[in-house]
Amino acid sequence: MDVRKPGSTWTTMVVLVDACQGVAVNLGDSNASNDGFSEAVNILSKPFPPRTFQVSISNMISTNSSAMTDITALILSPSFLISAALLVAGNVVFFLISYTRRPRGFPPGPLGLPGLGNLFQINKSIPALTYSAWAHKYGQDRPLGVKLGATNIVVLNSARMVRDLFERRGAIYSDRPRPNGEDEKWKFQTHEVPASLFHDSGPWLTRWRREFNGALGSAAAVARLHPMNDAETARALVALLEAGPTTRRAELEDIILSWVTSVPCIAVCGRRPDAMAHHGFDMDTFRRRTAGYMMLHKPSLMDSIPVLRYLPGKFGMAGWRAKSRAVAKDVFEIADQFLSAAKEHRAALDGADAAAGKGLSNRTEGYYESLGARMLREQRENRDKDMWTDLGLSAWNIVAAAMYTSLATFSTMLMVVAKYPDVQQRIRDEVLQVSGGDGAPLKSADVGRLVYTEAFWHEVNRWRPVAPQGIPHAPAQDDVYDGYQIPKHTAVYANVWHIHHSPEDYESPERFEPERFLRHPFGMRPGAAHDPATMEPSTNSASASARATYSFGFGRRVCPGMQLAKQSLILGLAKILWAFDVLPAQEGEELDLGVDTGFVQGLITFHPKHLDVSLRLRPGRNKQDILDHYSETYKAEAELMGW
Ligand code: HEM
Repeated sequence: MDVRKPGSTWTTMVVLVDACQGVAVNLGDSNASNDGFSEAVNILSKPFPPRTFQVSISNMISTNSSAMTDITALILSPSFLISAALLVAGNVVFFLISYTRRPRGFPPGPLGLPGLGNLFQINKSIPALTYSAWAHKYGQDRPLGVKLGATNIVVLNSARMVRDLFERRGAIYSDRPRPNGEDEKWKFQTHEVPASLFHDSGPWLTRWRREFNGALGSAAAVARLHPMNDAETARALVALLEAGPTTRRAELEDIILSWVTSVPCIAVCGRRPDAMAHHGFDMDTFRRRTAGYMMLHKPSLMDSIPVLRYLPGKFGMAGWRAKSRAVAKDVFEIADQFLSAAKEHRAALDGADAAAGKGLSNRTEGYYESLGARMLREQRENRDKDMWTDLGLSAWNIVAAAMYTSLATFSTMLMVVAKYPDVQQRIRDEVLQVSGGDGAPLKSADVGRLVYTEAFWHEVNRWRPVAPQGIPHAPAQDDVYDGYQIPKHTAVYANVWHIHHSPEDYESPERFEPERFLRHPFGMRPGAAHDPATMEPSTNSASASARATYSFGFGRRVCPGMQLAKQSLILGLAKILWAFDVLPAQEGEELDLGVDTGFVQGLITFHPKHLDVSLRLRPGRNKQDILDHYSETYKAEAELMGW
């Protein structure tokens, strides 16, 4: 095809698209225009030589006005317009088809629409339910291939596959997906405002997770936090008492949020959130900005249909860019507030050191040293310069990761005990028995002795997991599994919902029944197909990675806050049941915990639609008991924190 001929199809297309914009044809530098449509044209015209073509147009236009009239007539002629329309349509179809073509050897899955793939076949609020339905059709123990527009997704519907890929091949399957390669979104998440959740596996993340484990993740770290956990939970009881039994929904959530963020916040910067106002911190702003950050990363149509990225203004990448600048500014402000609190904690510990006649670089004995305070000390000792810049952001990351996941899980726990009074009573009986009688509230150190309550915890996480389709992992290289090709960077989801509701593995999976975890360590029926302890008895690794719940993720990316979350939320429930009866907000109301009627998928978590419970002081328990419990536990906390 000779593109220099005025009537050739490529000439036609560029002129047409420019005309659509109402802008003059750019005859000079083809890079001059930044606007989205021009970029789209550049992309569409890639296989052809646009420069040659531009010169020829330029020559044409610089001739006389009768030539211009000829061109206008030509452009407006029906044959020209029809061929132009056909060309545009042809290219659109070509792009749509090539975007949504399944990669060669991709796992089987449902047929989709050209250009859209399976995008509109998936349950918007709980995609895991659609993946579950497809698992029955395409095989539960075989990877499922799904196309969301241009995006490739592989869903693992069985524990066997999750273990094979996320654990056994963890060296490969520990990255996060990049639907559009190393684009601006990816750079933003991993470099400009790095969040561990989005980061690929590698030295940065290994280092980050090691620091996390040392401060909040390991059993020893969680034990070091016992006094703070006791006191902060006792403090929440006081807040609940003061709020009164009519407090429900958003107000109740606020109290829970400030409680569940307090221990992580103390662990990272030595202060609870509501004592950080003088650093400029305020919980509502923190929540709003964190939600803004997450919104930015919510997969949008632009990710599935990449050509939409080239739309101008707020619909395409231009809108994302503008928002991301604002979000980055907001998040860095929060990071500075955490950093400032950590410096304050460092200064307090240094002051205590000085008072005790120790040198500045000594580790402060007798006090709790937060992660931030430790890093600042190590930096001062010149042992680590790198973490300095990450410190404030890391603190934000950790507190943000703890916030909504813990709120969602605890809301489900409260709703369940309100709905099933016999379960509530059984937990309370166990708590009172372990704590040594009705008088004393449970201590953090005794949480591990609660057997039925732990079974309850596992059952809550199995029955209504916070992330029903998990957080996707991605292979760092092309891989072949069970004969299927999984391309590098593909989003690989573990369908936690399906795994935890498979009748092959769980007796009456829809029933809420903590006892299943008393009968079997993983809550499974005898001889269950995917019992991790019996799947491969020949290898020790089979039981090493075995677990009761998949709600906290897998392999190298498993939630590093899992132990702290378990400890804190069980402790919270135990103390609440010591102090209060948890009842439906409306007396006699049948609480709806149906998966699609009583729950919703929010921006981040799957949680009860409404926290409709009421906390009433138990008969025999009085206000003073609760105040006394707080002042006693606070004493121990304040001593350790130097408050
Ligand atoms: C009931 C409460 C919680 C649930 C259900 C939960 C669940 C999860 C899940 C599913 C993941 C992704 C795992 C994966 O990719 O395989 C995750 C990651 C993470 N969680 Fe949690 N989490 C909870 C509480 C916490 C707490 C209390 C903290 C901090 C104190 C925390 C910190 C993190 C961090 C930092 C990550 C990112 C890890 C990474 O990507 O490598 N989480 N969590």
